[in-house]
Amino acid sequence: MTSTPPRLVGAGESPDEPAHDTHLRPRSFDDYVGQKKVVDNLRVFCEAARRRGESMEHVLLWGPPGLGKTSLATIIAREMGVDIHVTSGPAVEKKGDLAGILTSLKERDVLFIDEIHRLSPVIEENLYPAMEDFRFDVIIGEGPHARSIPLALPRFTLIGATTRTGLLTGPLRDRFGYVARLGFYTVEELTHIVKRSAGILSVPVHDDAAQEIARRSRGTPRVANRLLRRIRDFAEVEGRKDVALPLARAALKRLEVDEKGFDEMDRALLAAIVDKFGGGPVGLDTLAASVGEEAQTIEDVYEPFLIQEGFLTRTPRGRTATRLAYAHLGKTPPVTVTGAQDDLFTAGRLPPGEG
Ligand SMILES: Nc1ncnc2c1ncn2[C@@H]1O[C@H](COP(=O)(O)OP(=O)(O)O)[C@@H](O)[C@H]1O
Ligand SMILES: [Mg+2]
Repeated sequence: MTSTPPRLVGAGESPDEPAHDTHLRPRSFDDYVGQKKVVDNLRVFCEAARRRGESMEHVLLWGPPGLGKTSLATIIAREMGVDIHVTSGPAVEKKGDLAGILTSLKERDVLFIDEIHRLSPVIEENLYPAMEDFRFDVIIGEGPHARSIPLALPRFTLIGATTRTGLLTGPLRDRFGYVARLGFYTVEELTHIVKRSAGILSVPVHDDAAQEIARRSRGTPRVANRLLRRIRDFAEVEGRKDVALPLARAALKRLEVDEKGFDEMDRALLAAIVDKFGGGPVGLDTLAASVGEEAQTIEDVYEPFLIQEGFLTRTPRGRTATRLAYAHLGKTPPVTVTGAQDDLFTAGRLPPGEG
């Protein structure tokens, strides 16, 4: 365990990350709630590398936004006692940008590349020798006289983050020593996170209120923290010193977060499939156009939770609403809603043999 905080070098937070979220960030593996398997493994890799005085193996973190990828990368650097250099796929435009980043690293430092699936193919190719042999090939001259001069790099750890591994090329994925998938958090874990954040924000939240916020956070710590901050605003304006359940419920209602934690866009998606496309299947692009959201955002942000909760299924022919989706919208599904039974089972809503 190291006490010196890792120095943040480079681009800093990604644009989707509000600056005021940073002090809610877990600082150590012990602070980091949930994702037990991943955390246990990373602890071992960190500890082993530290004992040998070596850099840790390259790690790929994947999962929907807000599940703790950036937090984990920062924790790894801290536990290794090294600096973390932060950049993102779209930010590394030219080969020179990559050269600049790589040559600024020190032995064992962490290089964090967010949205690593958005690296251009040229940059990606130049990253391969850096990952594998800690080497960067500098091309000197042009045309027939061009020469490649290998530049030795310090042994660093690359931590890549992506929302979906399917977006990564095989060769890039294969160069990571450990691929960690982050899943949605349980209500208990999120309750814990809400209470921890409430403590940091100095706003007393009753246990049942914390649990209610957790229940409606789409399995996502970032959402839980966001809801907590908004609810704190309501409490403040209404002159309440603490957040009790009725206040939490009233605030959530005004934020248009429903019983399941779905927001406007979740409901718009389900309603579009049901009302405009007869329950589906409907192609992603068509669906995106009909709700006025980007297809990529639907796929990264909204769909994973709706699928995990059993409200939506993804078939080769497109997206389909399940019986749960109809029920949530207060509609009766036509008898032809296919796959609905299976969805109920996989969502863990009903034991086999019922429904
Ligand atoms: N395991 C966790 N325990 C406690 N808080 C967490 C955890 N994971 C995420 N958070 C909170 O959620 C916010 C978003 O996490 P972040 O690491 O930025 O997610 P990602 O990079 O996957 O989008 C963090 O600022 C932190 O407050
Ligand atoms: Mg992030």
